[in-house]
Amino acid sequence: MNARPALPEWLRTAVFYQIYPQSFLDTNGDGIGDLPGIVSKLDYLHSLGCNALWLNPVFESPFKDAGYDVSNFYKVAPRYGSNADLKRLFAEAHRRDMRVVLDLVAGHTSDQHPWFKASARAGRNRHSDHYIWTDSVWSTFSEPRLLPGHERNGCYLPNFFPCQPALNYGYARIEAGKDWQQPMNAPGPRAVLSELRRIMAFWLDAGCDGFRVDMAASLVKNDPDGKGIRALWKGIRRWLDRDHPEAVLVSEWGNPSMAIAAGFHLDFLLHFGEPAYQHLCAPQVEPKAGAGRGFFDSRGRGDIRVFLDNYLRHWKATQGRGYIALPSGNHDFARFRHRRSEAELRVFLAMLLTMPGVPFIYYGDEIGLEFREGLVSKEGGYSRTGTRTPMQWTAGKNRGFSTAPAAKLYLPTNEQRGQDVAAQEGDPNSLLHTVRALLELRRDFPALGNDGEFEPLHAKPKPYPFVFLRRSDHERIVVAINPCQRGQRLNLPLLKGALPLAARRASVVGQQLRMAGFSFGIFAVSPKQN
Ligand code: NOJ
Ligand code: CA
Repeated sequence: MNARPALPEWLRTAVFYQIYPQSFLDTNGDGIGDLPGIVSKLDYLHSLGCNALWLNPVFESPFKDAGYDVSNFYKVAPRYGSNADLKRLFAEAHRRDMRVVLDLVAGHTSDQHPWFKASARAGRNRHSDHYIWTDSVWSTFSEPRLLPGHERNGCYLPNFFPCQPALNYGYARIEAGKDWQQPMNAPGPRAVLSELRRIMAFWLDAGCDGFRVDMAASLVKNDPDGKGIRALWKGIRRWLDRDHPEAVLVSEWGNPSMAIAAGFHLDFLLHFGEPAYQHLCAPQVEPKAGAGRGFFDSRGRGDIRVFLDNYLRHWKATQGRGYIALPSGNHDFARFRHRRSEAELRVFLAMLLTMPGVPFIYYGDEIGLEFREGLVSKEGGYSRTGTRTPMQWTAGKNRGFSTAPAAKLYLPTNEQRGQDVAAQEGDPNSLLHTVRALLELRRDFPALGNDGEFEPLHAKPKPYPFVFLRRSDHERIVVAINPCQRGQRLNLPLLKGALPLAARRASVVGQQLRMAGFSFGIFAVSPKQN
């Protein structure tokens, strides 16, 4: 039997903060966030309780998809600073015992990348097979998702938007009559894979601590059982374990048991893929017929079991091998705060930050930044644009994000009073202080940490609260979550003598849990005597 590779120690206590760099902090007055801005806020992030960062792509790009269309993987986009600035960020983070994970757009490049420009030429050259091309320009009529190139008599396969041609990692199965589909071990796919390794090695050597891999499942085509993609990432993981054992791979896959078996250290549960996370916290819009409601429904019409059954399945399959990452949100989905109150967000964060696995806080969620409706699409954001507005630091000009004239900002800030760091630092009841307190508890009590055991105690539609136990060798902690506007009561013998560690409008009387609307409670109970 193969020995299971050890997980990097730092993951056991990792809490991530996701930064959308263009919207975090602008230090040179051009209206766009930058790397020096991130460096200057490391102490803030550290004080919040985060010890790892994931940056959305910071590489040279025409920004047709906010940087997920890379034109040079080895160069920081000038609007964010220089490679030296990024190295300084790594060094400053490490000095504070924090880690930095970069976004690796592995599946495609920009159509402005020199590889693609060469690949689109009529004459054969060393980049001809870097992308997936059919052998005739007319194939677009039989398969409209294929797009005609330029001089080359062929169509290319986009991976996402048309400006993002798919890199050629090969096909697991070749369809009859489609000889242009190449097997994974053909020279083209092998060359692309070594380019990927070279990019990863370059940034690891520069000091980064790993990668969040964009569309991690998308690389190998026609791979219904996932054999091809598993082999590809397992190969990369073997190399990392040998040469960079502290580096981590985080996948955008949405299927933790698959992704972790493929070699990733962490995988997100997301709003796509397995639908269960959506059933926890989907944006508060009228659900499509039959789609079911999220558990975080103010009228209490959801059912936690939809989320939980799926979560437990993945958790059991991955325990000890890797982690499930639960994000508070990300740059692709409406913020949780969309059409929900701060009180609801507080309860959501209380659950997120007391669950096993590795939590990810999307910038601004710690101050309840709202989703902005009605914005004109920016850099391929479309409906995602309202989730990408500037971080708000103060009540002053441009909410402290930038000194540029308001019209030059990457996106407008919002007008809501109190939604800024300065205001919340000064208010002990603020969301920011709740997040800080929750992360402090997570640090102080191993039972609440990434590796603590997890056991649902009450998970039914009625009464509504979701109650679960977290456990380590010497601690047992009960967490109760009520995302519904109505109060709830529940008798649980285990709660007798419980000690509140943190509670918001929730208490234990005798063995009864009493919860007001939108409340949570975290209680220490006596460790089980065997
Ligand atoms: C997923 C990223 O999160 C998203 O923002 C991007 O548009 C697509 N992948 C394409 O790279
Ligand atoms: Ca700037």
